[in-house]
Amino acid sequence: MSAISVRDAEVHFGETAALRRVSVEIPSGTCFGIVGESGSGKTTLMRAILGLQRLDAGEIRIRGERLGAGRAALKARARLVQPIFQDPAASLSPRSRIRTLMNEVGAVLGERREATYERLRTILGRLGLSFGVIDKYPHEISGGQARRVAIARALLMQPSILMADEPTAGLDVSVQGELLNLLQDLRRTEEITLVVISHNLAIVRLIAENAIVMRQGEIVEQGEAGALFDDPQADYTRTLVGSWPRVKA
Ligand SMILES: Nc1ncnc2c1ncn2[C@@H]1O[C@H](COP(=O)(O)OP(=O)(O)O)[C@@H](O)[C@H]1O
Ligand SMILES: [Mg+2]
Repeated sequence: MSAISVRDAEVHFGETAALRRVSVEIPSGTCFGIVGESGSGKTTLMRAILGLQRLDAGEIRIRGERLGAGRAALKARARLVQPIFQDPAASLSPRSRIRTLMNEVGAVLGERREATYERLRTILGRLGLSFGVIDKYPHEISGGQARRVAIARALLMQPSILMADEPTAGLDVSVQGELLNLLQDLRRTEEITLVVISHNLAIVRLIAENAIVMRQGEIVEQGEAGALFDDPQADYTRTLVGSWPRVKA
């Protein structure tokens, strides 16, 4: 069964078609890439999968289940799919310590505080963060740390699917590689389905098995990530490849 199944999804914002008849099957346990230039509909697709963006037409199933109505359904979906948004620092509350953010997860899961912290200690360790980071405020940590904190929070929810929107944006090149390795490791050890969104096909090629290429709300090409990069069929994909230096896998 697919982890995520999108059929003929349509989203319009006034005149703009953010998604046009988008259909994609994302296999369980794989790393899947969503590539396209800015404005191609990547984030809209992610938000629709999370249940945060209503579809004008079509349907999305997560592990075969459609999203029900109401807040309970959204909560249930959050247990299955966790996002790492593009600007993690902005999604952290500036007035709360990171501890508060993590405590919320425990509350959602109905878990004892000690149990949450025990899991958190392990997760933070794997992400190369000390447990003490939970006593920091968002402005006291770096961009790379904020990204890791966002990943830690997402993992704490024990999702079966993790979706990362431009996970390397704004990070130093050295930290970018480290973060991609980390996501790849997590995917293997946690048996998570990982969806990576990027405007950079080279990044997707490094980490994903399969990918779709989006342009103006439509999928213009899909297939094995390496093949898309090495032998692009659509002119648009070719321009995406051409605009980035080649990176050895
Ligand atoms: N909330 C919104 N209101 C109006 N237009 C939007 C909204 N969200 C996205 N769009 C438009 O939809 C298109 C796709 O946007 P988006 O999904 O953010 O693309 P990407 O993530 O690939 O950069 C863009 O033209 C964008 O301006
Ligand atoms: Mg985006």
